[in-house]
Order: sequence, then C-alpha cells, then structure tokens
Amino acid sequence: MAQIVLGVGSSHSPMLGTPPEHWGLRAIEDKRGKHPYRDGIYAFDELVELRKAENLATQITREVWNARHEKNQQCLDYLGKRIAEFKLDVLVIIGDDQGEVFLHDNMPTFAIYTGQKVFNKKASKAHLEALPAGVAIAEWANEPAECDMEHPGAPELAEQVIDRLKEDGFDVSVSSKTPVGRFGDSGIPHAFGFYYHRILDDLKDCPQMATLPVFINCFFRPNQPSARRALNFGKSIGAAIRSWGNEQRVGIAASGGFSHFVIDEELDRRVLKAMEEGDEETIVQQPDYFYQSGTSEIKNWIAVMGAVSQAGLKFRLIDYVPCYRSLAGTGNANTFGLWT
Ligand SMILES: [Fe+2]
Repeated sequence: MAQIVLGVGSSHSPMLGTPPEHWGLRAIEDKRGKHPYRDGIYAFDELVELRKAENLATQITREVWNARHEKNQQCLDYLGKRIAEFKLDVLVIIGDDQGEVFLHDNMPTFAIYTGQKVFNKKASKAHLEALPAGVAIAEWANEPAECDMEHPGAPELAEQVIDRLKEDGFDVSVSSKTPVGRFGDSGIPHAFGFYYHRILDDLKDCPQMATLPVFINCFFRPNQPSARRALNFGKSIGAAIRSWGNEQRVGIAASGGFSHFVIDEELDRRVLKAMEEGDEETIVQQPDYFYQSGTSEIKNWIAVMGAVSQAGLKFRLIDYVPCYRSLAGTGNANTFGLWT
C-alpha cells in the first residue's frame, strides 16, 4: 500500500523572489485597492489609520527587510532539501490558481490534474507586462531558468484520488492539461511553479518524483470552499492515497498563505498553534471573513492537514516570517512548516 510520509507547507509570495530593496514596489499596488482585514474591507489609508498603534514603521526598515529576506531564503532552501531527502515517489501539491489558467468563464472549486506531464513554462513578454507592480520581478522563482520544462505527472494516483473523492461526495473537475488561460501560455500556475523551480530547483535532486497538482479555488468568490470543506477534501485525498495498492512513498504539499495582503499575526499564530496541536475545530471555526484574498490560501494548508491527519504525522513550524511592506500592514506573512 502507498504511505503518506511527509507534509509540507510553504508560502509562494512574490516577496520571496524579490530582493529586499524592492519590497516596497508591491505597496504601489496595495494603495490602489481595497483590502479585507478581519470583519471589514478597507482602503489603504483607512488601514494606516486603523493600525497606527502598532508602529509598523519599525517593520519596514531596510535592516528588518534584509534579515527577513535572509530567513525566507534559508527556509526555502531547507524545505527543498528535506523534500529531496524523503525520496518520494509522488508529491501531491495543493495550490490555487490566481486567475492564470482558470478564469471566470469556468472556475472549478476543486480540480485534479490528470496529465502524464506537467508543463512549467517561461512567462511570455505579454504575460510579464500584464502582471501588477512588483510581481514580474519575482516571476523567475516560478519558472525554469533556461527553457520550458516538463515534469512527470501522476495520472494513476489522480484517478485513485478522483474515485475516492466521488465516493465521499466531492464532484471534482479534471484537467489533463492546463487551460490556455489569461496569458495564452498555459503553463502550470505560480502556486505550483514556485515548488518546481524555487523550492525544488526543477527537481534536480529528485528526478524520480512524480507530482500531482490539485487545485482549490480558495481565492475567488463565489464558489470557494469553506475551511471545513477544504479539511474534508484533504481527508478524502489522504484516504485515497492510503488505500492505493502501489508501494509508493507520497508527500503532500500546500502552497501559499499565510495572511496577505494585509498581515494579521494574531490570526496566523492562532491557526499555526492549532496546527501544531492537531486542533482541527479551532481552525475550521474561524469566521470565513478571515480567509479572504491571499489569506484564503491557508485553506490549502488546511487540506494538507486533513490529508496527513490519519498518517500519524505531526506539524512543526519551521519559521513564521511576517514581511510588512507598508504602514497599512500590507505584505505577506511568509510561513514554512513540515508534517513528519
Ligand atoms: Fe498566491
């Protein structure tokens, strides 16, 4: 039977691929929009006012940015090394598409990638030009350095997972190749590309490993799953893997999170503590207004938590690195963890 031997969680923020002297670039974009934060939605200046007692100026100095950048890079290198050491046969990667390949003409709540190959492609010039401020500079972290690459998919495990999900009441979409999408270049989206390139160095140290991308639309209204639904979705995936008749070593990875684009350290620490304690109820009972915008990507971690829950693995936080980029508290709380 297959065994679940590892769970992984990593943020995939553009700030992870941006030199710290340019972290302020994304704040240009932050000023344009309105942002969910706790039970409200705020303009940038309203957030500056709301959070002024926190003295966030101390968080956005070059010294702090340099130190946090260093920590982020160490964590990413560490995670890549650990994944390779586990000599996995398959890594299931649970991530979200951010309007890259699934658009509003057809946006599944859950989709399983069934293709023989996963294509990680270099972004076209048009793609790079369409990205918001401060994102193109970090695109290198999501794509191969030289030319488009293909990595082995896991169609057999995909079918196993789909069959189990159907039994458990999940009607999932399937995708044997990523749709053409917004940029017309149809590579795997950045939530996955970040694992392939930045974390796993294009699978150089684990060329034997197949990968199974699983999509959760945690981000876009109106069909995001609740936290409890994401947890149960993960549990069903875990059950599918454990009942798979092949002698395979399987890992499951979450991509994205924690709070962004407005950082909420209280929420993050509450959820991470509950993950360490295996306390699913605390996590799924957080009001859904917390899990909005990029913060919704915590649901990818919740699905992994569900998937590893019956495998006897325990969560350990590697590091929590809140990276602020403005007085409004915008930024990304970069988070790295393992279930072993
Ligand atoms: Fe993301």
